[in-house]
Amino acid sequence: MNKELMVRWLRALLATIIIFTIFSVYLFLRREIYNLGIANKAFGSTAAIVAGITLLIGPVSRILPQFGKALVYRRSLGILAFLTGLIHAVISLFFIPQRFTIPFFLKEWPATATGLLAIGIWFFLTTISKNDKIKQLGGSKWIMLQQRGGYIAFLAVFAHLIFLKYAGWIEWFGGKTQKTPNLANPQYPPASLFVFLIMAGIIGYRIYLKLKHDVQSHG
Ligand code: HEM
Repeated sequence: MNKELMVRWLRALLATIIIFTIFSVYLFLRREIYNLGIANKAFGSTAAIVAGITLLIGPVSRILPQFGKALVYRRSLGILAFLTGLIHAVISLFFIPQRFTIPFFLKEWPATATGLLAIGIWFFLTTISKNDKIKQLGGSKWIMLQQRGGYIAFLAVFAHLIFLKYAGWIEWFGGKTQKTPNLANPQYPPASLFVFLIMAGIIGYRIYLKLKHDVQSHG
């Protein structure tokens, strides 16, 4: 690996670690406890935000050309989103059996299916991320697969989050979230609500750009 590539990977890794740390600190402040289950929430949230940043770099750099330098980070950030999402999925499925049992995953099948769909798409996008695949598939087909795949997976994660968390958000807005030994400060908003708002903003921005583009190309 050449030096430039290594620096790029280290920066992307640093950004991912910073996002993970912010979520971990917030979750700790809200709960005053930290364990594998809480780290798992931070892994899922980090994956969602890093994926969102990856999707934003392209459109933002078209409007603000100084962001053009960030385009090369999309591959490393995308792969890091996949890896943190994979860690989250493996911990959820196999390492917290006292909370997340097989009946839980079957009952919550829409959340399970959308989570697995996102992981599957990100895995596929990672396998075709190498330069030789761009040559093999042809540039425009490769870009189309990366963009469509990236957005479909992002929407799947968004649905996954809503399926699992909306009941808790409604409870929190109604002031009904109780203090428990695992939740010292229920008055603080759930971290997942911030993830929801950021993801909704990114999806909304994308829809706005698409509508603007459609209006311009038809008018
Ligand atoms: C790309 C893939 C995925 C992403 C980005 C993702 C993201 C998230 C996020 C942001 C949360 C909310 C965390 C919170 O409570 O603060 C969450 C919760 C959860 N996810 Fe995923 N997820 C993914 C895939 C999966 C898969 C495949 C499974 C297992 C089948 C899974 C199981 C869970 C469970 C059980 C929770 C609830 C965690 C809790 O309340 O402590 N996720 N996920």
